Amino acid sequence: MAAAPLLLHGSGRCFDGARIRVGWALLTDADGRIAWMGGTLATAPSTDADRIDLGEALVTPGLVDSHTHPVFAGDRADEAAARHDGVAYGGGGILRTVRQTRAASDEELEALVRRRLDAALAAGTTTVECKSGYGLSTHEELRALRLLGRVAASHPVRVVRTLLGAHAVPPEAASADAHVEVVCREMIPAAAADGLAEYVDVFCDRGFFNIAHLERIAAAATDHGLGLRLHADQLGLTGAAQAGVRLGAASVDHLEQLDAAGVAALAGSATVATLLPAPAIVLRDSLPPARALLDAGATVALASDANAGTYGGWGAMPLVIGLGSALLEMSAIEALTAATGAAAQALGRAGLIGTLAPGARADLVAWDATHEGAFWLTLGRLAPRRTFIGGRESTST
Ligand code: NIG
Ligand code: FE
Repeated sequence: MAAAPLLLHGSGRCFDGARIRVGWALLTDADGRIAWMGGTLATAPSTDADRIDLGEALVTPGLVDSHTHPVFAGDRADEAAARHDGVAYGGGGILRTVRQTRAASDEELEALVRRRLDAALAAGTTTVECKSGYGLSTHEELRALRLLGRVAASHPVRVVRTLLGAHAVPPEAASADAHVEVVCREMIPAAAADGLAEYVDVFCDRGFFNIAHLERIAAAATDHGLGLRLHADQLGLTGAAQAGVRLGAASVDHLEQLDAAGVAALAGSATVATLLPAPAIVLRDSLPPARALLDAGATVALASDANAGTYGGWGAMPLVIGLGSALLEMSAIEALTAATGAAAQALGRAGLIGTLAPGARADLVAWDATHEGAFWLTLGRLAPRRTFIGGRESTST
């Protein structure tokens, strides 16, 4: 459905994805894209589009959360508390969530996913990558991807779907090898044939799937036209990030244990390094080497990793940007870039989202702030005043 063109403008600071403009104006078109962008209203093309004055508010592209796990039921907050008493995180709780998710109805799961996307939108996030991975049988993984598609069809937030069939070895599988065969022979072909996912993800880490499994899954993904992304070097330094670079992954995520060789491999590649500070601090883990990655020239994204077991906050991207600066030594602009343009690149959408420029989707947020340093100063305690997706104003539910 065509959107009514809008002429949006403001006198405040606007991060367009590359730089800060002070004073700005942009015109949207009937397809919900940006038709023109400039510094003043006076230079706008003549139009009878409705005008909206966003005043002095800080304006940014809609935030892009490029790593989440929203399709699950149940609650594992007790595990977080138990960690203080020495119960180490080894990912074992994933199978507890799998049991609870398998037992939940489609209606229950859809309501949970909808609420999680509502929270994202209320926090200025206009695109969310959503993984399956708490079903683990072919039937359950496809169910998760289908229900994500149903929620996305009636929710303003843009959803990018990822098949994470290799998140853990389910109880019915004889071995990790056997499960990887199910992922490659059943899940990937079915997800690709029915257009249920754009990406395949692998938890390639100590105690989970190894590099040989990753290579097998990457080959199947490529055969079926799906992109690759992975959980890498979170629990142990396994070489997963370098393997991801070699296999052409769009993004390698986590990287808490990454070493200098991993930094160098990422710096010389088109693979995005996606950092997830929230689960790192929840797990009292070491922090990923953000500064070293940026200084070496790698593209660094920030994402929430909202999930069942290691970080339970939805709508967390403003906090994640604040953590990028406060904990990961990123400048305010580096952290914002990581949650917009770099995250868009991690999702294969560079130039289309995460930026305010002609041709991009008109996804933008006017914040209750006047300077980008507010993400850092408030540790993300700032809210959108107005949010636009595809040139339409979105009201959070
Ligand atoms: O990204 N690392 C693996 N997967 C999730 C956590 C999953 C869970 O514990 O439920 C993550 O942190
Ligand atoms: Fe994750």
